[in-house]
Amino acid sequence: MSPNADQPNNDDSSKAEGPIVRSASSIWGLVLDHLVDKHMEAVAAMRVNPPGGVARTSDGVVVTSKELYDQVLLNADGNYTNAGYQERMEQSIGPIFLGMDWGPEYVKESTPGNAAIGKVTRREAFELALKETRTALATIPSPDGIVDIQSLSDVVVAKICSHYFDIPDGIFVKPGGFSVSNLLSPGVCPADYTFPSAYIFHPDPDFILSFTGKRTGQILRESVGKYVADKRDSAQLPAAPITRALFEQYPDSKDNDLLARTIVGVMMGALPTINGNLNGVVKAWQRTATLMALQAQLKANVQADAFVKAHEVIELPMRQAMQMQPTPDAIWRRATKDHTLGTQNPVQVKAGDKIYLSIVQATQECLRNGSDDVSPIFGGDRRKTPHPIHSCPGFEMGFGILLGIVYGVVEFQPK
Ligand code: HEM
Repeated sequence: MSPNADQPNNDDSSKAEGPIVRSASSIWGLVLDHLVDKHMEAVAAMRVNPPGGVARTSDGVVVTSKELYDQVLLNADGNYTNAGYQERMEQSIGPIFLGMDWGPEYVKESTPGNAAIGKVTRREAFELALKETRTALATIPSPDGIVDIQSLSDVVVAKICSHYFDIPDGIFVKPGGFSVSNLLSPGVCPADYTFPSAYIFHPDPDFILSFTGKRTGQILRESVGKYVADKRDSAQLPAAPITRALFEQYPDSKDNDLLARTIVGVMMGALPTINGNLNGVVKAWQRTATLMALQAQLKANVQADAFVKAHEVIELPMRQAMQMQPTPDAIWRRATKDHTLGTQNPVQVKAGDKIYLSIVQATQECLRNGSDDVSPIFGGDRRKTPHPIHSCPGFEMGFGILLGIVYGVVEFQPK
């Protein structure tokens, strides 16, 4: 992560940089701080707690109960549309199926990619993530034994992406974290995916988030576009399973741009959400004694299989930490027609209203009720029938990656 603007940077590598680069880095630090602050303000503004789980506020209609959250996402009466996402994506990574409503076009574009993502098992993702975490921890700073989780995430997520997506390839997309180069070509993975994701999923992005979300999205579309064109020219199919499935879905080079933006869109679904939940869980545990307590439990557990051990020791506290501070903390829809939402203190929704769906309130309700359900963080549970059409196809993969990295951090004993 780039240094905070007000902190001296004693890293030797920065001494080689000129003053312009250093001050640009400081500005970038300020931009990131600004985004975090604005985000916290927006979350606080949504902290209404209406008795029926829905209220009209000055910002729009806010849904806070798990029941109404599920109802809006299931969209049984076709009251809501994802078209607002598509309008934003058009200015950023380009339009893809995430911005479509149910119909033949959505089914055609989403089915092969979602199926390829769904094939990755939790165990497979866990084992890869744990292996990469163990390797990376040898080189990641851990002052006073506290692992710098963002640095770890940048390295491990880039490796996992190369495995499943063939990106970053080191040529058209570079591996790396947040820095001033995020606003310039070529694309940087995983960092660049954060801004379009926040811009598209956040109900009300401000000017700076809109600017960075559009710019980095355009860079990714262009950089991955070059990667796609290069592969086509050499008539090569990537070995990485998810990107390969997407190449097979779009064999004709007239679809190069659609293929590129679909790859970017799928990765955008995965990376910032994994990074955000990973940071949330590990930092919450680092601030308290939880990390040490779990480390002791892990040591005491006699299971030989790390995957089983992870489920016995890490899974439940990880779910609870995710429920407490989920990423994303909100998503949104737009109403297509006038209707009534809720039964106790119902709200009269008008066509065109923005509907804020507060994931953090839905998951904290689960936590209060003693449920370990994290499905709201994934836009619903795709294994259920019916399920919201856009519910995450990468739940098993994403959960396995999170569990693997978190397990690696808990077991780590700094020298
Ligand atoms: C911690 C991990 C993850 C979280 C929290 C997460 C969260 C979400 C959420 C909330 C949605 C629905 C958005 C909405 O309805 O407005 C979604 C959809 C989606 N996610 Fe994930 N995701 C995760 C991992 C992944 C992974 C690993 C992949 C792919 C490799 C992925 C790909 C997608 C795609 C393609 C969609 C759109 C599906 C569709 O429109 O049919 N996600 N995700």
